[in-house]
Amino acid sequence: MPTFTDEQATHYDSRITRLVPGYELLHQLTNVQLQTTLADGAHILVVGAGTGKEVLALAKLNPTWQFTAQDTSSDMLNIAQAQFAEHGISERVHVHFGPLAKLTQSADAALCLLVMQFVADNGDKKQLLKDIKALLKKSAALYLADLMRPETTFERDAQIALCAQLGLAEAGQNYMRHNLENEFYPLDRMRFSELLNECGFAQPKLYFKALGFSGYVV
Ligand SMILES: C[S@@+](CC[C@H](N)C(=O)[O-])C[C@H]1O[C@@H](n2cnc3c(N)ncnc32)[C@H](O)[C@@H]1O
Repeated sequence: MPTFTDEQATHYDSRITRLVPGYELLHQLTNVQLQTTLADGAHILVVGAGTGKEVLALAKLNPTWQFTAQDTSSDMLNIAQAQFAEHGISERVHVHFGPLAKLTQSADAALCLLVMQFVADNGDKKQLLKDIKALLKKSAALYLADLMRPETTFERDAQIALCAQLGLAEAGQNYMRHNLENEFYPLDRMRFSELLNECGFAQPKLYFKALGFSGYVV
C-alpha cells in the first residue's frame, strides 16, 4: 500500500493528477457544492487532508471558513502545513495528525477524498465512517470519493491506458496496476451504500465518475 511518507509525500502533488483521472475536476466539483451550501463562518473537516489541496482551494473560496485538516501521515501534513503558512491561512486551520477519535469540534461539512479506498472493509472502513459521522452537525454533508470495484472487465485496463496518456511512465503504470489489484480496498456500489447506511448516513448521491473513481455526497 502507498505509505504517503518520504518521497511518496514530496512527489504527491506532481503525481496524483497522472494517477487519478479528473483529480482537479473532482476537487472543483466538491468545492463548488460547499460554496453553494455552506454559510460564512462554517467549519469544514478534511479527513485525509494530505498535502492540503482541499483546504487551500476552499480557503480561497471563502475567507471566513475554518478547517480541521486531519491525516495519518505526518510527512503529508508537514507539506500541508508549509503550504498553509505560505498562503497565510495557518490561523484558520487546525492540523491534526492521528485518529479522528481524538477530535471534538463538530463540522458543518466533511470531505474524505481518495482516502477510504486505503482502509480495509474489516471493520476499519465502518469505524472511519462512524468517527466522521460523530463529528458532523445534524444534516451536515459528507463528500466521499473512492476507487470502486470495476463495473466492466475492461475498466482497469482503460484506467491504466488513461494514466499513460496523462504522462505516467511505464514503471508508474506497472506500479499502478499492481496497486489497483492488490493495495486498494474498493467496494461495489451496494456494499458502499450498505456501509454508509449502517453508519447513519443517507443514500449516497453520485456527483463524479471517472472510470474507477467515484465521488458521492451523503
Ligand atoms: C490519495 S491521498 C488523498 C489526499 C487528499 N485528500 C487529496 O485529495 O489530494 C490519501 C491520503 O489519505 C491518508 N490516509 C490514509 N489512511 C487514512 C486514514 N485511515 N485516516 C486518515 N487519513 C488517511 C494518507 O496519508 C494520504 O494523505
